[in-house]
Amino acid sequence: MKTELIPIDPLYPEQALIDHAAALLRAGAVVVFPTETVYGLGADALQTEAVERIFLAKGRPFNDPLIVHIADLDILKTLTTAIPAQVKPLVEAFWPGPLTLILPRSARVPRLVTAGLDTVAIRMPRHPVALALIRALGSPIAAPSANRFKHVSPTTAQHAYADLNGRVPLILDAGPCEVGVESTVLDLCSDTPIILRPGGISLEALQSVLPDVRYAPRHKQDQEDSQSETEAQRSPGQLLTHYAPAIPLILYDGRVEAMRRAMLAEARRRQHAGERVGVLVADEDMSAFAESDAIIRSLGNASAPEQVAASLFAALRALEWAGVQVILCRSFDQSGLGLAVHDRLLRAASERVMV
Ligand code: TXA
Ligand code: MG
Repeated sequence: MKTELIPIDPLYPEQALIDHAAALLRAGAVVVFPTETVYGLGADALQTEAVERIFLAKGRPFNDPLIVHIADLDILKTLTTAIPAQVKPLVEAFWPGPLTLILPRSARVPRLVTAGLDTVAIRMPRHPVALALIRALGSPIAAPSANRFKHVSPTTAQHAYADLNGRVPLILDAGPCEVGVESTVLDLCSDTPIILRPGGISLEALQSVLPDVRYAPRHKQDQEDSQSETEAQRSPGQLLTHYAPAIPLILYDGRVEAMRRAMLAEARRRQHAGERVGVLVADEDMSAFAESDAIIRSLGNASAPEQVAASLFAALRALEWAGVQVILCRSFDQSGLGLAVHDRLLRAASERVMV
C-alpha cells in the first residue's frame, strides 16, 4: 500500500483534504490524523471491519481496547448506557481536550473497540483537524496512538510515517502535537474516579473539579524504591514496558546534583568502552554536560513540565535515529504534567538507578 503524507493547516484545515480523509474512513480504511496529544490511527468506530484494520496496521493485540473520539456531546448518550453525575463538570472543564472517560458501553459500540469489556473509553479531542474529520465522517473515530505496538507514541506525522509507511493509505501532517503525551484516562465506572493513565490533564486539575479523584500508580518499582531511597540500587526487567524505545534506557532518580554526577560518570565509562551514548536532561543540566562527548538532548526547563511532556517522545525517537546504543535519562518532578512524564519514563526504562 502506498502511503500519502499530506500537509494540512492545523488551525483552519482545508475542507477538500478533510473530505478526502473522511471518504477513506467511510470506505473502511484507516487514516493517521493529528490530535493535541499525539497522532492517532483512526477508523470509523462503528464499522467492525474498519476497526480490525487498526489492530492489523499497528500490530496491536485484540485484547487492548481503543479510545472512541467524538466531536459533539449529543453522540455521548448513544455510546453509553449511563452518564454518571461526574461527567457534566468534567466535560465542562476539560472537553474538548486530553481527557478520556471510561463509561458503561452501549450495544452500539462494536465489541472489538472495547476488547469485549462492558465499558468504553471516550474523549473529545481539541485539535481542529481531529474535530473536522469526526464531523465530516459523521461517526465517532476509534483511534490508538499511531505507532507500531510497543513503540514510542508519535508527536509528528514523520514519526507516524516511520512506523506505518506502507500500512496506511493516508497521514495528515499538521505539524508537532501541542501536549506531547497521551490523554489522561479516568475510570468513572468504579466507586471513586480513578486515573488509569496519567496524561495531558493533570491530577491537580482533575481534583479541582472532582476532589475525590485518585491515582494509584501500578509501577512495582515505585513502591519498592520508596522504601530504600538512599541506597543505590539497580533492578532491571521489573518495569511495565510499553513505551519502549528500541534501545535500553537507564532512568536516574534522586537529587539533581547526584543524578548529574552519576549520569556523567556512566556516560564516560560507557564511551571509554566504545559505546555511543545518548543523554536526556533539562536545560539547567546542560552546562554540567558541556565537556561530555555523549549526544546530549534537553527536554526543556525542568520546572516547566508541559515543556518536558511536549518534547519527550520526539527526543526518544531522535536518539534512536542518532544510533545511540543506550540512553541515560534524568527524572523530573511529578507535579502537573510531570506525573505523566514520570509514568512514560518508567515504562520506557529498562533499568532504574536511585542515587
Ligand atoms: O491521547 C490519546 O489518548 C491518544 C490519542 C490518539 O487520542 N490515544 C491513545 O490511545 O493513547 P491508546 O490506544 O494508545 O491508549 C488507550 C488507553 C490504553 O491504555 C487502554 O488500555 C485504555 O486507554 N482503555 C481503552 N479503553 C478502555 C476501557 N474500556 N477500560 C479501561 N481502559 C481503557
Ligand atoms: Mg498507545
